[in-house]
Amino acid sequence: MSLAVLVSGTGSILDAMIEAGLPVDLVVSDRPCTAVTLAAGHDVEAIVVHRSSFGDDFDRDGYSALLAGRLSERSVTLVAMAGFGTVLSRPFYDGFAGRVLNTHPALLPAFPGWHGVRDALAAGVDVTGCTVHQATLEVDAGPILAQEEVKVRPDDDETSLQERIKVVERRLYVDTLWAVLDGVIQFQPAPEGAAP
Ligand code: GAR
Repeated sequence: MSLAVLVSGTGSILDAMIEAGLPVDLVVSDRPCTAVTLAAGHDVEAIVVHRSSFGDDFDRDGYSALLAGRLSERSVTLVAMAGFGTVLSRPFYDGFAGRVLNTHPALLPAFPGWHGVRDALAAGVDVTGCTVHQATLEVDAGPILAQEEVKVRPDDDETSLQERIKVVERRLYVDTLWAVLDGVIQFQPAPEGAAP
């Protein structure tokens, strides 16, 4: 398999993947960010497919098709989103059906969306965590591959809680990717209506 990692931010999970020896062949970002510099520092090819070139209204299908094309050109067969800041649409999933993973900073199906940590704090839960799941057209709703709990502390703010969750994600995502690459975890069929 040829593994690509999609990033948009600091790339600490990407760093953990590379440090763990996962065969990351390509890093793709939707914007200039620290993760791209980090990849270069590890001699991993990194490209930026700028979402800003797709207009104020954001042509999501056009962007998704271009991104899928860039990955196909490089014969990518497995895609791991690690803090990727663009929701991709059908033209992307048509090309990579059942071959996309994501990590989310909450115990899905609780607190999906962009603010999983903030929303868990606002709800006053004692325990949240992270989820590695198969990504499908419906955001944060694909089959769950692995989850781990993280306790919320009374003095937590969004930053402190997110950092503790990321410590767990760096291990859980790496372990899950190894299991997928080794064939220990097999992708599940997407739920009906959420295909692919
Ligand atoms: C991670 O916590 C990941 O779960 C989150 O972005 C962070 C990336 O951290 N992703 C999402 O919230 C996607 N909905 P990093 O840039 O340090 O690797």
